[in-house]
Formats: sequence, structure tokens, C-alpha cells
Amino acid sequence: MNLNTKVKNQIIKTISECMKIGERNIYLEKPPENIDADIAFPCFFLAKTRGKNPVEVAKDIAFKIEPEGYIKKVEASGPYVNFLFDWTVLGNELLRTVLKQKEKYGSSALGKGKTVVIDYSSPNIAKPLTVGHLRSTIIGHSLYRIFKFLGYRVIGDNHLGDWGTQFGKLIYAYKKWGSEEKLRTMPIQHLLELYVRFHKEAETNPEIEEFGRMEFKKLEEGDRENLKLWKKFKEFSIKEFNKIYTRLGVEFDYMLGESEYLDGSKKIISRALKLGVAKKSKGAVIIEFEDMPPLLIQKSDEATLYQTRDLATLEYRMRKFKPEKILYVVGSEQSLHFKQVFRAAEMLGIKHTGVHVNFGLMSLPEGKMSTRKGRVVFLEDLLDKAVDMAKKIIEEKNPCLKGKTRIAERVGIGAVKYNDLSRDRVKDIKFDWRNALCFEGNTGPYLQYTYVRASSILRKSGIKQFKSFDAGLLKSEREVSLLRKIFLFPEIVENSANDYKPHYIANYAYELASSFNDFYESVPVLKAEKDLKISRLALTECIKIVLRNALWLLGIEVMERM
Ligand code: ARG
Repeated sequence: MNLNTKVKNQIIKTISECMKIGERNIYLEKPPENIDADIAFPCFFLAKTRGKNPVEVAKDIAFKIEPEGYIKKVEASGPYVNFLFDWTVLGNELLRTVLKQKEKYGSSALGKGKTVVIDYSSPNIAKPLTVGHLRSTIIGHSLYRIFKFLGYRVIGDNHLGDWGTQFGKLIYAYKKWGSEEKLRTMPIQHLLELYVRFHKEAETNPEIEEFGRMEFKKLEEGDRENLKLWKKFKEFSIKEFNKIYTRLGVEFDYMLGESEYLDGSKKIISRALKLGVAKKSKGAVIIEFEDMPPLLIQKSDEATLYQTRDLATLEYRMRKFKPEKILYVVGSEQSLHFKQVFRAAEMLGIKHTGVHVNFGLMSLPEGKMSTRKGRVVFLEDLLDKAVDMAKKIIEEKNPCLKGKTRIAERVGIGAVKYNDLSRDRVKDIKFDWRNALCFEGNTGPYLQYTYVRASSILRKSGIKQFKSFDAGLLKSEREVSLLRKIFLFPEIVENSANDYKPHYIANYAYELASSFNDFYESVPVLKAEKDLKISRLALTECIKIVLRNALWLLGIEVMERM
């Protein structure tokens, strides 16, 4: 059990014993910033069950509980009981815990025995990854790490869009205009070219749409040549995607594309018809709802759709993994899709735990994208640009740095990731190059830089192991505020998992980093007298550990120098 939970449980136990109320009915809150307290107990519920005034109840509790151990003061404030920790006692235990647990500090066994499936990235093959897929990849991967950190079994599944009528079009276009050579050397560009050409051609010659449909039908019926082409498209696309995933440091446990669920989809359709959940409509099969547009699950030419395959996937995941939750990290524009799919599943008797973890649009200064018209921003170019900019800045600031190329890569990629993860995912983002790569303010480079700064102080001190420090000497407001922040970390991680919001961790890391910089600029560390120096260095080491853990959860790498 982490220290944060341990301390809270102790307070809960004390209140429970003193007021004869069940521990499960006690909720503690974090008091607002301007209140000098570490934890508060709101008395409303307890007062209600006793038919008393919450202000009186708070006074009563504050009177009855003797401060001891970690607790320095118990005080009633209106309907709240405020607890103030004794940081000279708790501080030492906290620093010892962090120094001992290192990369495990903040983790817990909360999720033991439970499974979470995360569906993220999930691009469409034969097309370039879009910025939307980048967001899904970054947010999904962070959630993957957060849940793992909390002890869950986590299954990361990249639900590739590898089936659908567009493959008929592509096969048609490839047979007509394709080049084996180009497919091998620049697969995505070439496939995109073919796709664009198909749509351009179809404007003047609409009958080729029908040819595309025919090719897809052949593919669905298992035609050897078409299947071979499709496999090639898929294989080359995955190779390209993997380049980006490697660069982003992202991994998956499975890459079960839509094509894995063709049989499952057929079964869903016949079951839906048999149960009377779906009905035939002009040759197609639809599921109707009272409060939403109908969901098409089979086209009139008997082809299945994205949503049919999602229904089959949902059932498969529930059966195979028995997950506590399935998180679909997909843009908000698919909200209706998921509402329909989840409701349809319930109507089919599929008990599920799917959650749409949605996110807003990210717009690039480069302008709007359209795959059909071939206007796309290749993610690789975006990452290259970020890395280039990072390289320039490093060149200016620290031209003699060793391993510049590797560090620029980390800074550039970290900047792109942090830019995304530091904002509430549901909001739209305007990507701003200068802001993202700035070394000041709430940015990735600033956090990496703060980490480097802490490392450099520790290096200069020459101390490798901290044994005899005394947190009791860390008495200034700035120091206590840092201890408080470190103590809070496990709680922040838990909250961010509960709401599927990595930005809680990002903003926490930013606050920790700025408080640390503030501390370092206002009190002497290396020049302090011996005991104080060691204690301040121990604090610095702990901040470094927590910062590294927080950034790790966001998928951002740190370095000792930059
Ligand atoms: N391939 C889809 C797209 O690019 C996203 C898939 C998301 N996952 C899912 N199970 N529907 O829009």
C-alpha cells in the first residue's frame, strides 16, 4: 500500500472509531489551495444520518481526536474537519519511501486481478496515419502505462482498419495504375496516390465506383489474386506504421484488425435478425433505436461495415479477456458510432464494459487534411520538424553537448507528446510549433530541462546515497509545499486513471517542476550548511524520481544532460 493511502486509511480509521461510523461511509477531500491543511473530512453525510448540524459535528470530531503520529493539528472549519500533517515526521517517511521505491513510487496494486483492454492508434491501412491517430496513439499509450502502474493487466490492441470497400477501389486502381516498385519503396505514398487517382477519375467516370465494389466483393469471397494484393498492402502499411511506433516508443500486445472479425460479423447479423433486434430495409439490415439514427449492419450487397465489425470485436473482447473496462481511445467525431454500437450490443444481449474515451480535434498550422484529395500531413514530417527545431535550440544553448542527435530526438518527440497530454483530451487543440517547443512554461522541454537541472545539482554534490537526512530541517513554506506535492503523486495517478485523463499527471509534473525551480532559485542547496544541504539534496533526488515517474507515465523520456 502506498504511503498516501496508508495515511488516509489511518485518518479514516480514527474518525470511524471516534464517531462509531463505518469506514466505508467516510470520504476525505483535498482542501483548496488557500487552506492550510493537508486533508479534510466533510461532515455533511455523517451529520445527516445523525440528524445534526454539520458544523456541530465537525467541532465535535475536532475536539475528540487527539493529534498524534503524522497528524499535527485537527481543526474544525465550518462543516469540515481539517487535518494538518506533521511534516517533520511524515516528511522523513515520505522521502525514505520515495528513495526506496524509486521507479515504483506512485504505483499500487489497485488493479490486481483486473483487466483493462485499450483500443488505441487503430489507423486505416493503405493510408497515412492522421493527426487523429497520433492523438489516439499518444493518449492510449499513456493510459496503457498508467493502468499498468496501478497493477492492472493491460491489453493494448491496435484495431487496424484493414477491411472495407476502399480496398476494392485500391485493388482496382493498383491493377490499373500501380507499380510494384513504388509499392515496395514508398508504400503509403503510392497507395495514397492510387486512392486519390481513383477518386479523381471517378468524378468524370463514375462507373469505376462499381468496378471498385466488384473488386471488394471478390476480395470478400476469397479471390486469390485480390487477397494476395490486400495482404501486400497490409504488410507494407504495417511496416511503415511500425517506423512511427518505434520512434514514439509505443507498443501493442495485439494488432487484431477489422479483417479478423468477418465471421463474427456474419454471426452478429444473423443473430440480430433472429432476435428481431435488426430488420431488413431495402435489402440492407439495420438496427433501429428510439433516440438515435439507425445503425446499418449489412449493406444491400451483403457487405459488412465498420460498425458490424466493431460489434463482433466487442463481443470477442468481452469473451476472451473478461475486462473490467474496454477503453476506445477514438476522436469525438465517432461519439454517435460508439453510442450506437454499445446500445446495439446491449440489445443483442452482449454484456459489455466499453467506454468511449474521446478526444477533440488537433488542428495544424499546415492546414486541414483530406485523404481523398491527397492533402495530408505525414506524421513522419511532423516529428522530423519537431526534432529539427529541438536540434536548433540545443545547438544554440549547448553546442558542445555530447549525443546531440539522440537528445534532440527525445526533446522533439517529448514536446509533441507533452503538447497533447498536457491538455484535457476532450478539448480541441491548435498545434503551435513555438509553444510546443518552448523551454519555458508548461511544455515537455521545460520538464525535461528541470529534470536535467536536478540531475546536475546532484552530480555536483557528489552524493550517491542518501542515508542521514532530516526532513525536519525542511521547514520553509517552499520546502513543505514540495513535500506535499510528492506525497500527492499516487493520488494524482489514481485520479487520472479514474477519469482516463493523463493531463492530471502532466499538470502535476509541471507544478512540481515549477515549485522545484522556485525552491532552487530562492534557497541555497549546494552552499547550505552540511545537514541542511544533505536534506535539501535528498528532497531534490526525490523530486527527480517523481518527475521521471510522471514523465514515464506520459511516455516521455528524460536525460541526464541536455
Ligand atoms: N480505424 C478507425 C479510424 O481510423 C478507428 C478505429 C477505432 N477503434 C474501433 N474499435 N472502432 O477512424
